[in-house]
Amino acid sequence: MNKRALITGITGQDGSYLAEYLLKLGYDVWGVIRRSSNARGLQFIETITDGKAHLRYGDMTDPASLTRILKECTPDEVYNLAAQSHVKISFDIPEYTSDVNATGTLKLLEAVRDIVPAARFYQASTSELFGSSPPPQDENSPMHPRSPYGVAKLSAYWSVINMRESYRLFACNGILFNHESERRGENFVTRKVTKAAVRIKLGKQDCLMLGNLDSERDWGYADDYIKAMHLMLQAPIPADYVIATGETHSIRDLVRLAFEAAGLSVRSNGESGLRETYVRGDTGAVVVSIDPRFYRPAEVDKLCGNAAKAHRELGWRPAVDFAHLVKLMVAYDLKEETER
Ligand code: NAP
Ligand code: GDD
Repeated sequence: MNKRALITGITGQDGSYLAEYLLKLGYDVWGVIRRSSNARGLQFIETITDGKAHLRYGDMTDPASLTRILKECTPDEVYNLAAQSHVKISFDIPEYTSDVNATGTLKLLEAVRDIVPAARFYQASTSELFGSSPPPQDENSPMHPRSPYGVAKLSAYWSVINMRESYRLFACNGILFNHESERRGENFVTRKVTKAAVRIKLGKQDCLMLGNLDSERDWGYADDYIKAMHLMLQAPIPADYVIATGETHSIRDLVRLAFEAAGLSVRSNGESGLRETYVRGDTGAVVVSIDPRFYRPAEVDKLCGNAAKAHRELGWRPAVDFAHLVKLMVAYDLKEETER
């Protein structure tokens, strides 16, 4: 019989890649959708899975719905990807973020323990757990989250470990560093920049407003990272793994590369903070400005992951590097914006 996987957050970036991948591996794929899931997201997941995923309404804040879905699906593997995943927005809705990301995970773990205790459980943990901990970060680095999002995810991280240690649940934390793709939400910085670069090139937008350009991230490709999720649940023993490229870039690198890929050379005016701008090399027009609204009350300055444990124990390696990732995203946005 085919293995059965339940994915919460199936309409998100990672959920969609994971559903496609597991279907290709012959899994019977189930997913949790919400009343509020947007129609385009639902349509997209139906299309890429060719209608083969079993979609059920539920919510991480509604334990009865999780119980009902687990009883119907009886999964062999549960991938908990659902979250209020935007760090900046978590400062505006901290309690809701905690309800979904922390308590929601605990509710799902308790339901798994009661209904399918032999199921293997993947938790979408994050490099945001490290926060102000200096790079390079690995599984043993101190954790010091810098946002309500990070704090909620840290609670979920410990719930997973506690379930493993208390009840021998096969539960793993994938501590994934930032990963992006053509399917990335448009209010995350990579997609915001690639889309704007293309729109400015096509004359559909004048200027891109950004926040802190100083932070640095270890950006990988989502389609590489979901393979690590699956590998973790095939390992002989449950454990936690950092998944990262080991390469770090600033937001400035992202801006330069994305505009270059869109066919525009840009240069900074050399100022820093709120006065920094980028102008087009050809016309001198300002194409990037700083808007303090996009700054966060506390920032994670630099993330750079050491994924040696995943290389060694899972045989996982990323295939797409940062420069390639930016080109893929720009090419996709160019096609989408040209056809629109
Ligand atoms: P995403 O695109 O924002 O997707 C989030 C998913 O969670 C969506 O399917 C959303 O459903 C669902 N969701 C939100 N609130 C929910 C609730 N109350 N009940 C049920 N479902 C809910 O995020 P992603 O980038 O794919 O990330 C997947 C997971 O990995 C998240 O947990 C994120 O925090 C974590 N993570 C991401 C990264 C990264 O760089 N992408 C790195 C580390 C960890 P709707 O469509 O209905 O809104
Ligand atoms: N979103 C956004 N918008 N970020 C901006 C902007 C802007 O206009 N301008 C500068 N930034 C900076 C942020 O301050 C941050 O330092 C960096 O760009 C990355 O921001 P995001 O793309 O929003 O990602 P994130 O690093 O905060 O969080 C993502 O990665 C985490 C893993 O480290 C999310 O996917 C989280 O869910 C994930 O856990």
